[in-house]
Amino acid sequence: MDIVLLAEDVFRFACARRVILKAMKPTRNRSAKPGARTAIAIMAAGKGTRLKSKHPKVLHEVGGKPLLAHVVEAALRVVPAHDVLAIIGHEADRVIEAMRGTGIGFVRQEPQRGTGHALMCAAPALSGYDQVIVLSGDAPLITAETVRTLRDFHCHKRAAMTILSAQLDDPTGYGRIIRAGDEVKAIVEEKSCSPAQRKIREINSGFYAFSVKPLFANIEKLKTDNPHAEYYLTDMAAVLRRAKQPVLAMKTGTPSEILGSNTRAELAELDQKMRYQKCLKLMAEGVTIFYPQSCVIDSDVEVAPDTVVQPFVQLLGKTRVGSDCRIRSYSVIRDSVIGNGVVVRQGSILDDARVGNDAVLGPYSHLRPGSEIGERVHVGNFVETKKVRMGKGSKANHLTYLGDAEIGDGVNIGAGTITCNYDGVRKHKTVIEDGVFVGSDSTLVAPIKLGKGSYVGAASCITDDVPPDSLALGRAKQIVKEDWVKNKRRTQK
Ligand code: UD1
Ligand code: CA
Repeated sequence: MDIVLLAEDVFRFACARRVILKAMKPTRNRSAKPGARTAIAIMAAGKGTRLKSKHPKVLHEVGGKPLLAHVVEAALRVVPAHDVLAIIGHEADRVIEAMRGTGIGFVRQEPQRGTGHALMCAAPALSGYDQVIVLSGDAPLITAETVRTLRDFHCHKRAAMTILSAQLDDPTGYGRIIRAGDEVKAIVEEKSCSPAQRKIREINSGFYAFSVKPLFANIEKLKTDNPHAEYYLTDMAAVLRRAKQPVLAMKTGTPSEILGSNTRAELAELDQKMRYQKCLKLMAEGVTIFYPQSCVIDSDVEVAPDTVVQPFVQLLGKTRVGSDCRIRSYSVIRDSVIGNGVVVRQGSILDDARVGNDAVLGPYSHLRPGSEIGERVHVGNFVETKKVRMGKGSKANHLTYLGDAEIGDGVNIGAGTITCNYDGVRKHKTVIEDGVFVGSDSTLVAPIKLGKGSYVGAASCITDDVPPDSLALGRAKQIVKEDWVKNKRRTQK
């Protein structure tokens, strides 16, 4: 399916009845052959009115990633990227941008006239397939295993439509499955349910498998005679049954996977579930996480065994933490790579940083993008680094700003040292070679180079390069006026 970014008017045209009928000749063949060509279509065009947001619903995040990214990930574990199609509409360009790099195809649904209409718009793109699995872009807990089971059930039973259903204690809000024995007569949306139907606890998950030919031979029969005046994909159950096509429901054994996110409260619930699952997975892999309910760990984060994560830690984005590390409370680490045996003390913030083995950070260190902290380096209290390389065993333990700097091995940076890297227009580099000792409260005005083994006296303002093995002092000479205070007191009397 290497379509599918067509111009707006082409899409409208594609949605028209004539095109659909031409693309799908009606057929009497009811079977879905095993080994048939399978596409996965993800419905992701909705506005998400109930979220009361100006952003597209499927880009709202849970587990640190857009809803749609989770669904795409599950889909990609079942079929190759060129067989995955996202049906997009509201803020489509932003959705495409967010999914860039996944290799999936897109179809636009403009305007959004319901889930049935979404599939109408995808008809031309699906014409080469035997069956299509339809997923909801707002239900991110779905797993590849469940999608495969649904596909295999559908093939095996030779159904025209198989609905993934779930038996829920509280079915409120979901479409209900109306059965006639093994087959399904209809799906009735909550708003249209009779009081008796409302009591049915088998619900429609919003995931389906369709045989492509009967789907598109009959999809034109959908009507908009419902409270939202939309084309409901759910109505295909009744439509196909009237066309004497077999409609089945496969009850999932894992109802928690079908959870959707129509409201902010549901988003929060999903996020919590997903992160707790992530903690359980890491713990099963050998990571100690104390008080996992308090930790925020994104789905793609990796942590090696024997690392200890204390309460209220956030590990975000593409962060990778090695083994035998200790990440103490209130640290927030994003898109960073941390070696083995690293200690990150309380309240440290790492953003796009690299940290070598056995380094010690914090408490309250701030490593900004481009910080490359070498092995056994210490970066301590209230030290901020940005675009800095620090060589093995170097130390900056207190109250320091190091920006745009190249720091060698075994360097000691005294408390309160500042690299003055910015002249108001441009950034300049500070080079500190191996074994340099910078005394406390020094300001290093870049561009500047401190040669190998040199010393900078405390409280110096250094504006010129310092040759190797020399001492640089850049401070006012001290004056002592003996008895000055005593005399002052006397004159004040
Ligand atoms: C849908 C089902 C309901 C089921 C529930 C499960 C219908 C009519 N109802 O309801 O039976 O129990 O899912 O969660 O399908 N979308 C489009 N284009 C549109 C409208 C929606 O792509 O024109 C997308 C949305 O972005 C969303 C998905 O389809 O990802 C489902 O739509 P949503 O409005 O959330 O349906 P529900 O009300 O949850
Ligand atoms: Ca939904």
